[in-house]
Amino acid sequence: MGALGIPRLLSLLLWACLSTSLVVSAIYAPLREYAGSTFFDAWDYYNFYDNTTWGNVTFVDRQTAVSDRLTYVNDAGNAVVKVDNTTFVQNGPLVFRNSVRITSKDTYGIGALIMIDVRHIPYGCSVWPSFWTLGTEKLWPGGGEIDIIEGINMLNNNQIALHTTSGCFQDPNPGQTGNTVERDCSTPRGCLVAENKPNSWGPGFAQAGGGVWALQIDVAGIFVWFWSRPDIPGNVNSANSSSNIDTAAWGPPSASYPAASCNISQYFTPQQLVLLTTLCGTWAGVPSIYASTCHTPTMSCFADNVIGPGSPTYDNAFWEISWIRTYLNSPVPPPGASPNSTTVQSPPSPPLVVPPTTSFVTTTVKVTPPPEPAQSSTSSATLSVTFEHSLGSVLLVFLAWFLRYMNGL
Ligand SMILES: *[C@@H]1O[C@H](CO)[C@@H](O)[C@H](O)[C@H]1NC(C)=O
Ligand SMILES: *[C@@H]1O[C@H](CO)[C@@H](O)[C@H](O)[C@H]1NC(C)=O
Ligand SMILES: *[C@@H]1O[C@H](CO)[C@@H](O)[C@H](O)[C@H]1NC(C)=O
Ligand SMILES: *[C@@H]1O[C@H](CO)[C@@H](O)[C@H](O)[C@H]1NC(C)=O
Ligand SMILES: *[C@@H]1O[C@H](CO)[C@@H](O)[C@H](O)[C@H]1NC(C)=O
Ligand SMILES: *[C@@H]1O[C@H](CO)[C@@H](O)[C@H](O)[C@H]1NC(C)=O
Repeated sequence: MGALGIPRLLSLLLWACLSTSLVVSAIYAPLREYAGSTFFDAWDYYNFYDNTTWGNVTFVDRQTAVSDRLTYVNDAGNAVVKVDNTTFVQNGPLVFRNSVRITSKDTYGIGALIMIDVRHIPYGCSVWPSFWTLGTEKLWPGGGEIDIIEGINMLNNNQIALHTTSGCFQDPNPGQTGNTVERDCSTPRGCLVAENKPNSWGPGFAQAGGGVWALQIDVAGIFVWFWSRPDIPGNVNSANSSSNIDTAAWGPPSASYPAASCNISQYFTPQQLVLLTTLCGTWAGVPSIYASTCHTPTMSCFADNVIGPGSPTYDNAFWEISWIRTYLNSPVPPPGASPNSTTVQSPPSPPLVVPPTTSFVTTTVKVTPPPEPAQSSTSSATLSVTFEHSLGSVLLVFLAWFLRYMNGL
């Protein structure tokens, strides 16, 4: 026991540093882009009613979505995914309006970076859109769920959350700009962070020209950034589908879930991307929740919105998306190896070759002020250190050894 004391202390210290105040940033290599005329090719359409959140919608198949123009690519080259606003829906015993839920054929695990550039998010009373990821292989929430974009009714900010089985929490000192609402990821609302930056939702989001979200799934944690259009970092603005992305200069994320309080590889299996819009249901349609932001004639989510002509009620219930891009953490060559001799672990499907990347590893050390959930990010000092790859990889191998050592304890 005595002999283990110091290494154990060191490794715990290292673990704490890694998870709460040290973000190891890396360069990401492009994997796939969903955009333009091929945007809808690599997704499955749900083709069933909403049997998970019980909204009053039918998620149609691809053929119906195309013929009813619920999914299409507009003149600007952006993908549009909308709620039916052209059908008069009659009242009846069980009523559904057509909408869309699509799930990516590809899965993304630890090492992935997922970015989405959105121009318009569905909004309005009864409207509940979400862009999220869902763990495969296990019954929900066994594979984990990551909600990147989600909100309801007339709320005016985005909410980010993880959903897991019990034992996964948000760290008390996550180093983020958003406001933590709930720390326990196994509660019904998940470990929830409310976006603090302006124009993350609704008319304000659209009027600002939309924005970009980035999700990083790393062994060190799960991190979500949001930027309104004017604030998008230069390296994201200037990127095209084949550019590498370096996360080093992005600053603190909106929501941060360091691995110190949630073992990412334990709670998250490879994730599929999901995009949908439902109506009413188990969140937007709960009478007290509906009444908190919507004031309609009968105060019924269903009667005041879903039935009837659909327009103008659902004229703003559409997604407009410029692109979704996915990336993989670029390889760190073992010491002495030439950078291009390294192979990369790819997600299960499809096998894709990752282009060669730069031979530098950039490590950003963030010094985050003491726990103060509502603290503004401007007071955190950021030190950037760039290592030549051999030095960086020696350090990473050392860190990996320490973590493995700790697991063995
Ligand atoms: C919802 O319906 C689909 C299609 O029938 C089915 O595969 C899925 O298991 C159902 N989900 C739940 C949570 O019942
Ligand atoms: C709305 O959908 C829910 C869930 O499927 C269903 O229980 C309810 O009856 C629907 N409401 C109406 C008025 O059809
Ligand atoms: C992306 O940008 C790079 C550098 O500006 C350029 O060389 C490349 O042709 C561009 N690729 C695409 C697909 O536009
Ligand atoms: C995290 O979970 C993985 C997979 O279950 C396990 O192999 C590893 O030992 C765990 N790490 C820690 C630090 O508990
Ligand atoms: C449905 O909404 C779209 C905008 O999403 C709008 O252009 C269109 O006019 C609406 N349809 C009808 C029938 O009003
Ligand atoms: C690495 O790439 C360089 C230039 O692209 C090439 O000359 C060299 O043979 C490659 N080395 C290996 C081990 O593949």
